[in-house]
Amino acid sequence: MSSRRRFLSGLACSSAGLLLAQSGRFAFAAESLQSRLIPSTGERLPVIGMGSSGSFEVADDARDPLREVLRRFFAAGASVIDTAPSYGRAEAVIGDLLAEQGQRPKTFLASKIGANGREAGMAQFRRSLQLLRTDRLDLLMVHNLRDWRTQLTLIEELKAQGKVRYTGVTHYLESGQDELAEVVKAAKPDFLQINYSVIARGAETRVFPMAQELGVAVMINRAFDDGRLFARVQGKPLPGWAAEAGVTSWAQAFLKFALSHPAVTVVIPATGKPDRQSDNLRAGFGPTLTEAQRQSLIQLVA
Ligand SMILES: NC(=O)c1ccc[n+]([C@@H]2O[C@H](COP(=O)([O-])OP(=O)(O)OC[C@H]3O[C@@H](n4cnc5c(N)ncnc54)[C@H](OP(=O)(O)O)[C@@H]3O)[C@@H](O)[C@H]2O)c1
Repeated sequence: MSSRRRFLSGLACSSAGLLLAQSGRFAFAAESLQSRLIPSTGERLPVIGMGSSGSFEVADDARDPLREVLRRFFAAGASVIDTAPSYGRAEAVIGDLLAEQGQRPKTFLASKIGANGREAGMAQFRRSLQLLRTDRLDLLMVHNLRDWRTQLTLIEELKAQGKVRYTGVTHYLESGQDELAEVVKAAKPDFLQINYSVIARGAETRVFPMAQELGVAVMINRAFDDGRLFARVQGKPLPGWAAEAGVTSWAQAFLKFALSHPAVTVVIPATGKPDRQSDNLRAGFGPTLTEAQRQSLIQLVA
């Protein structure tokens, strides 16, 4: 079966797919997942990636849903997977399942260093390679800016040696954003990763303009505010403009919100549930949100 047909069959099993099928609107699914450029090289990345915190921190006997989560991910044309040494078993689970499915070559694999000192950073990198069953990473980021001077120097050296393709720095809190902007200004990494959602828009103030000015790719974490956004809209109907924006779920509205900022390169929602994965992937098809739709969503969720 072709990857597009597998994606369509994945969608058809999901609530989003059923809604699509019922309304006869398969138009977006027949298009391809949108992509954006990494400014430092011009390489294209699919706009929907996936995180792995929590969702991939599972025991050996709980891997089956994750196999399907990954199958739907690649069938849709997605490739960006974010993980970290501090996410429990996630690196090991991802490494095993990518090897099992033969998908490492199609994966843009991102992990992090969160350690003090060069030796500890290097040991963590080696362990990540071992667990992820690979000999290089596509992106290696300093986790939450921890010991960032030492670790970014190390990551730049690993890039020069061909063991890492892109450098980056991350944070996940509004309170960390000023420092992140300063580090980006000083060190100009290839990527930054930051939190951004309809209720946490601080990145618009300094981080996004800095990224746009310097040509730094932006990866968004916590687009659902770690899942809390769904509680805010429980029982609420989708906005009146949802169909026009190609939105059939709140998850898609939240992801399209993040993608509608021009600084954003890729968003990495996390789920361990196949139907939610199909739902999230669908946000990468069709239009993003207009300014009026963005403002409407901000008010609806406030
Ligand atoms: N400092 C850092 O570098 C940093 C910090 C935070 C996050 N991250 C990265 O960013 C990724 C994403 O952030 P996050 O995991 O904190 O939060 P998130 O993606 O905003 O939210 C994840 C939550 O949303 C739920 N969810 C996912 N898709 C859904 C859907 N379609 N419908 C309803 N609920 C849905 C998940 O539940 P289920 O799993 O039950 O579906 C989970 O509880 C992380 O996994 C990690 O890779 C990095």
